[in-house]
Amino acid sequence: MQVVLGVSGGIAAYKACELLRLFTESGHEVRVVPTREALKFVGEPTWAALSGHPVSPEVWDDVHEVPHVRIGKRADLVVVAPATADVLARAAHGLAGDLLTSTLLTATCPVVFAPAMHTEMWQHPATRANVATLRERGAVVIDPAVGRLTGADTGPGRLPDPAEIFQLCLRVLRGRPLDLSGRKIVVSAGGTREAIDPVRYIGNRSSGLQGYALARTAAARGAEVTLVAANVTLPDPAGATVVRVESANELREAVLAATAGADAVVMAAAVADFRPATRHDAKIKKTDGAPEAIHLVKNPDILAELGERRRAHGGPTVLVGFAAETHDVLANGQAKLARKGCDLLVVNQVGEGLAFGTPDNAATVLVAGGEPVEVPFGPKEDLGDAVWDLVAARLS
Ligand code: CTP
Repeated sequence: MQVVLGVSGGIAAYKACELLRLFTESGHEVRVVPTREALKFVGEPTWAALSGHPVSPEVWDDVHEVPHVRIGKRADLVVVAPATADVLARAAHGLAGDLLTSTLLTATCPVVFAPAMHTEMWQHPATRANVATLRERGAVVIDPAVGRLTGADTGPGRLPDPAEIFQLCLRVLRGRPLDLSGRKIVVSAGGTREAIDPVRYIGNRSSGLQGYALARTAAARGAEVTLVAANVTLPDPAGATVVRVESANELREAVLAATAGADAVVMAAAVADFRPATRHDAKIKKTDGAPEAIHLVKNPDILAELGERRRAHGGPTVLVGFAAETHDVLANGQAKLARKGCDLLVVNQVGEGLAFGTPDNAATVLVAGGEPVEVPFGPKEDLGDAVWDLVAARLS
């Protein structure tokens, strides 16, 4: 597979070296096309040595080989990482003043942009419009990660983890359709914790792997993803905006806020049904004697609430629930699908090492008004794609 790695002039250019290595070490042929500005951050010898090919930002080198046309035409994928505000603007307007922008105009393969810049530049209406234009034309523009930027600033604008960008590119290369392009998707993941005192909580065994796989696969299909993560310690999927929460009430607030304008909401999080009625402000000491009982009160059922809100006021086109069951899996699932008013319910059997914390999963997707879909045992990404196939069909 031939990959073009476009690098534009941002401090994150050094992270593109790692992305390049991930591609070459997995057998991809990579042509690096930096902009002139990118070479101020990482020099030509580094790119040439790591890729094994000559590197130039200009259309004027090796003119007899017509590089401004040939490189783009031969590519199976073009990924621009980091993509600066400037390169997004030039790409959106079809400018072709250097080898990278010429390549973007001649490429007929999928194109992935991984923007990285200061928050103000990312949020500027000009950049928003350029990103929207590129997405409309079918490019995958992944939202930058939130975190530390150059200097003391923090906010959205960081280049996502190169390993996560690489995973996303592999999925695009494998030819998954970009059928969630322009769609806003909310995924909840992980397991909530309900505080007993400042150091103890009631929790569950959810690792967040399935929710993260859903976010990763949706982003690779072009979606804008908000991932509401309850107590997950996994790396942020490239392209997902991660909102971290702890308790069921916090998860509810974050999901409801993200749901405004969303096309689909997938509740993969394991939400505690109950929480302690009182949260002790100070640590409960052994010397106090054991509490006689911890009184529990009911948590809101977020998925059922989303279903009710949609019935009353409209809302996301597709609502997806998950159900982890230990017995009577399908019967319990069918009842839950109806009770929660969702369109799809992914049911899997848990217990004895099944599903929790493992990279693989098998499930049945129950479909409101349709036949169930069996997803055989395999990576959680495969289940993610099976869910998005059904979601995309409902959205179109
Ligand atoms: N869910 C939710 N809010 C809750 C509990 C669950 O939104 N308070 C969502 C989960 O994210 C999941 C679905 O509802 O998508 C089913 O969760 P599950 O725990 O299996 O269902 P329960 O309502 O707890 O039903 P039961 O206790 O009968 O298993």
